[in-house]
Amino acid sequence: MLEHKAELVFWPHRLTPDNIQEAAAANIIVSFIYSDLSQKVLDLIPNLKGIATMSVGYDHIAIDETAKRGIIVSNVPAYGPNTVAEHTIALLLSLSRNIVPSVERTREGIYEYAGLTGWDVMGKTIGIIGTGKIGAHVIRIAWGLGMKIIAYDPKPNQTLVDHFGVEYAPFESVLQNSDVISLHCPGSKENAHILGKEQFATMKKGVVILNTARGCLIDPQALIEALNQGIVSQAGIDVLEDEGMLKEEKQFFSEYFALKDYQTGMADHELMRDPRVLITPHNAFNSREALKNILQTTVMNVEGMLNGDPINVVVK
Ligand code: NAI
Repeated sequence: MLEHKAELVFWPHRLTPDNIQEAAAANIIVSFIYSDLSQKVLDLIPNLKGIATMSVGYDHIAIDETAKRGIIVSNVPAYGPNTVAEHTIALLLSLSRNIVPSVERTREGIYEYAGLTGWDVMGKTIGIIGTGKIGAHVIRIAWGLGMKIIAYDPKPNQTLVDHFGVEYAPFESVLQNSDVISLHCPGSKENAHILGKEQFATMKKGVVILNTARGCLIDPQALIEALNQGIVSQAGIDVLEDEGMLKEEKQFFSEYFALKDYQTGMADHELMRDPRVLITPHNAFNSREALKNILQTTVMNVEGMLNGDPINVVVK
């Protein structure tokens, strides 16, 4: 329980440049990833001392700016990395066994399997990009499914080699040799569009792409092209570039959106309609167990800021 005389104000919507006046007097902001905490928003909250994001990722916050202004940023570093990993594998198995069209068919009262042939994951090679907390759990489950595991991470984890036979290889080699590629690295500026036209061109024909990390990791227009060329056969996606716009499409008309944002929004819509692609609405974190952990850690993060002893501080 907070024992401070802090006034708590709740808003049911995300923070954007258009509604910033609501938070202009705030000392601490608690947000999720859809709130815009870019430099232009920070400029309008002069008394801001802390941001507690209820997420692992903090790419929605201008970290360079917060550091310069002495604003503390705390995140929820791990609320259940197995949660996102389980969702990733749920997407994989839903794709491999045509679960969504199978259920849609029986819901229509048609009890017939013709045309629903799937494929086995056992014996296939999965390439993991990013073997941190979530990637490691995906590896654990993929190993249990009998998949061969190759991986790229600038900081390899020897335990994963010893326990699950993971073979680390350069990024390009993982792309070339995987039947399934699963992304688990942060959505940093450096990682923007790590899968683009050039990378798709090097992949095995028929590769399956999984992305439960961040939308900005994949160029959506290049993915559409790779699907149409038959390079990518299926994709399971929980995160889309500029997905905040899909939640509130009136944002399309905001003066802050550029042509590139509209193009990305159109590409996202095309992917959502494609039957080869399964898209969930950034739902991978959303288990009962994880939500409880997120709330508990966020209360502790805010208490730490109020007590002058911040925890889970994000450092660039
Ligand atoms: P982590 O920090 O434990 O692991 C990230 C790993 O990626 C690190 O080992 C790092 O060395 C590696 N990495 C960085 N750049 C790389 C690159 N270019 N190629 C390969 N590896 C690279 O993070 P964690 O907890 O495993 O989370 C991973 C990402 O998952 C988060 O950054 C977040 O964006 C996303 N996420 C998505 C959620 C969802 O609901 N869909 C929920 C939670 C996290």
